[in-house]
Amino acid sequence: MDLYGKDFIVSQEWSLEELRALLDLAAKMKRDRYSDRWASILAHQTFMMFFYNPSVRTRMSFEAAATELGGHAQFMTPSAGRFKTEKQAGETIEDAAQVMARYVCGIGIRILEDKVPFYGAGNEMLREYAHWANVPIINMADDKYHPCQGMADVMGWAEWYGEGPGRPSYENLKGKNFLLTWGSGALARSWCSVQEALLVASRFGMNVTVARPEGYDLDPEVYAWTRANCEANGANFGVVDDPDSGYEGAHVVYSRNWVTADAYQGGVLQKPAEIEKAMAYQGWTANAERMARTDNAIYTHPMPIDRGSEVTDEVASGPRSAVYDIAENRLHVQKAVMALTMGNL
Ligand code: CP
Repeated sequence: MDLYGKDFIVSQEWSLEELRALLDLAAKMKRDRYSDRWASILAHQTFMMFFYNPSVRTRMSFEAAATELGGHAQFMTPSAGRFKTEKQAGETIEDAAQVMARYVCGIGIRILEDKVPFYGAGNEMLREYAHWANVPIINMADDKYHPCQGMADVMGWAEWYGEGPGRPSYENLKGKNFLLTWGSGALARSWCSVQEALLVASRFGMNVTVARPEGYDLDPEVYAWTRANCEANGANFGVVDDPDSGYEGAHVVYSRNWVTADAYQGGVLQKPAEIEKAMAYQGWTANAERMARTDNAIYTHPMPIDRGSEVTDEVASGPRSAVYDIAENRLHVQKAVMALTMGNL
């Protein structure tokens, strides 16, 4: 299988075989982290990270990943250049992408909900870069998807239901019950991580339940893909509107705050209004009482966690919390992504 030159914008656009190749390499890299086998895969090469929004995990893990592959990750923000927007004259994506591609082996882009005028505009921008650049475009979280996070998530779940760190069992995820529940809080987060989690859980054969208050449904296209993925695997997909029932028999619980479908008005994300709306739904918190009704579920979250709102400390720091393992896995899956799409393997 040849993945060299392939963009990674959403996991749904990679075949299951391709995702497994990525995850299998990530597990090998995790088991044998500093092996000479990986040390020169990106030798003399630079990966560019273009951040419209801040990051801790994504920036640090990509920088570490490039270093461990013998290459370099370069950090850039839009303030470093003069880029054309709806409101400002400047360089087009056509020009920027083709010039950047002359310098680097791949381009990672992060652009989240507050930097775009409507839902999907960030993803459109990544696809325009992918159209013009002749190096891979890696989605480092846009307003729709976060595929590197999704890969780290599923690797972590499969490790917890497998033989531990670096020894995941994707077979053991089949038929397990995945709960994605909206979480209380004032962060008004985007849909990228949770939508990717739905796609990945359903791709890997899990039964999927979304629990959310009225008005907090996610992208209908993502629901349709999730339903189709579940049907293809003989699994179930359902949506409930209460904060309790989804926990019954769950094996993986994922809680996170996100915005409503009406978050954009007049070309601007209405963050204060979204926070006000969310305040009406207190008590959507993953807590020990709810976790006790699961089938000894693990707790998962892409971080940063809004402790006390999305989840209690007791659960987030408890013995069934996979959050740090999953954060670590960002490094391993991104090493594998860069090695397969840009490297000399
Ligand atoms: N999960 C995640 O992408 O974290 P950062 O926003 O810190 O990169």
